[in-house]
Amino acid sequence: MRDILVTGGSGQVGRALLAAAEHDGFRFVAPTRDELDLLRPENFAGILAARPWAAIINAGAYTAVDKAETEVEEVWRINALAPAVLAREAAKVNVPLVHVSTDYVFSGLSDRPYLEDERVAPLGVYGASKEAGEQGVRTGGGRCVILRASWVVSPWRNNFIKTMLRLGAEREVLSVVADQQGSPTSAIDLAHALSTIARTLAYDAAAPTGTFHFSNAGVTTWADFAAEIFRLSAARGGPSARVEPITTAQYSTAARRPAYSCLSTERIQKLYGLTPRPWRIAIADIIDELIPPRTS
Ligand SMILES: NC(=O)c1ccc[n+]([C@@H]2O[C@H](COP(=O)([O-])OP(=O)(O)OC[C@H]3O[C@@H](n4cnc5c(N)ncnc54)[C@H](OP(=O)(O)O)[C@@H]3O)[C@@H](O)[C@H]2O)c1
Repeated sequence: MRDILVTGGSGQVGRALLAAAEHDGFRFVAPTRDELDLLRPENFAGILAARPWAAIINAGAYTAVDKAETEVEEVWRINALAPAVLAREAAKVNVPLVHVSTDYVFSGLSDRPYLEDERVAPLGVYGASKEAGEQGVRTGGGRCVILRASWVVSPWRNNFIKTMLRLGAEREVLSVVADQQGSPTSAIDLAHALSTIARTLAYDAAAPTGTFHFSNAGVTTWADFAAEIFRLSAARGGPSARVEPITTAQYSTAARRPAYSCLSTERIQKLYGLTPRPWRIAIADIIDELIPPRTS
């Protein structure tokens, strides 16, 4: 059994990785935040030296997009400095690194799915810090994959599905933004992609490296995403609300978000053979976890 180091094991993506537990002779090992604090990069070398890691998946991050606007130093240390040091230390011991990044590195002014090499232009502190993290990983000197995802949801932690179900239980009508388009990504499907990439890098020195995109297939808006969540929830006897579409201008947030952030997944399909499922199918599985289907 070979060990793959996972940061952020308590997060959505980390939990999805750990839920999968074992994969063809590999095991995911996720130290706690006390054991591996991304704010303490001086400890990374010791952690990497502790055992012969087959690969690293950096799924830990500062992800509170609005709070990030005022906690700039902490955000930058976790999302930019830590990945750079991790990449440098991983290169020294020749361990491949898979780093998770985000659609928020883009401005959102496109009208067709973003390709991996397109110009980045983040709109807020979170996106800028993640973009700097990508640069740090790219220049770390080792074999690495940067995997950008968008609109990550899961049965765990805070995410759009859980927020909608909570608010749907409290209110009859919910106002949801209808002029931002993107693609939901199930953390479970993303974890499968990360696991495939990490294991391939571990056993194949010639495995593809560089930047890749992964999301579930299809485009939606937050309002239509919410409506689909309520449709699936109602069918299972769960909470439901009527969705009132509103504009971004009507819903003020501390951080600006891209108006369009769909990611082209052609490269990962071609080079890693990973074909994303349609988002509606992927989120139905998550809703099944949160609201088991009625048996009668
Ligand atoms: N969520 C999204 O919509 C989204 C979209 C695109 C890309 N992404 C990217 O996907 C990756 C995973 O996101 P996620 O949704 O799984 O995030 P999440 O649920 O917010 O989890 C973040 C993880 O990072 C850990 N973490 C935060 N600060 C840390 C520190 N100082 N030291 C060690 N661990 C720390 C958290 O630990 P605690 O439990 O201790 O807080 C948690 O395990 C991130 O790179 C994120 O940028 C997310």
